[in-house]
Amino acid sequence: MKIIASSLWRSLMLVGVVCLIGNSCTHSPYVLPQNLRTGDPNICFESDILPIFISNCAKSGCHDAASHRSGYDLTSYTSIMKKGIIPGNPAASKIWQSVAIPGTGVEVMPAEAPGLNATSLNLLRRWIETGAVDSGACYSICDSNNFTYRGGIAPMMQKYCTGCHNSTSAPGGSLTDYASVKNAAVDGRLLGDIQHLAGYNAMPQGGLQLSACQVAQVKKWVAAGAQNN
Ligand code: HEC
Repeated sequence: MKIIASSLWRSLMLVGVVCLIGNSCTHSPYVLPQNLRTGDPNICFESDILPIFISNCAKSGCHDAASHRSGYDLTSYTSIMKKGIIPGNPAASKIWQSVAIPGTGVEVMPAEAPGLNATSLNLLRRWIETGAVDSGACYSICDSNNFTYRGGIAPMMQKYCTGCHNSTSAPGGSLTDYASVKNAAVDGRLLGDIQHLAGYNAMPQGGLQLSACQVAQVKKWVAAGAQNN
């Protein structure tokens, strides 16, 4: 018994050595080229890239964890990578094809909703090109003193909310224009929801909570009269 075990062990070792020397193993894990391992320091997966997926793709009935239509659950780094991103190569990435290259035969996404805006597309492309790295816990640059509607609030809505809250699909109302955002602000829902307060709907639905700095931007804007500035 012992002899069999040890010869088995030896053949396993041999296979290992052959793999190392001859590079003959199939199914070896994909190894990211050295120059693509650090990603773009200005892009944070959690706060820049994941919200694009949460807002535009992971709506209920589409690619959220529960529905995962066509097998696509687009709510976490692992599940996003598994199904459609080739690090360093947007053109070969199914997810990129579906949002940015019509005519490849891959279904155009998001289905029955406006396409991704140029800012989101640029971020996504750059993220894939620089290695599609999961940068760990981080937040995008935020200045809590930037609390004008156009400078701070509207871009935040666009990044985290309007994929779900737009004119075509608007459960809970649109957040694409000043009047609607102001409405949500003055009746308290906007701040209650983004702070995940008891009795409110935690927003962005299914996504990570906005950072303390981002919440502070909204608070200051509301406190200053939620102006169209
Ligand atoms: C993945 C989709 C999705 C995203 C992203 C999302 N929402 Fe919502 N939101 C919903 C749905 C669905 C409802 C309706 C919930 C309900 O009534 O149960 C809703 C409701 C709301 C409401 C009204 C509901 C209430 O509290 O009375 C507000 C305000 C709101 N969302 C704000 C936001 C803000 C602000 C963001 C971005 C920071 C955001 N949402 C991101 C899906 C989303």
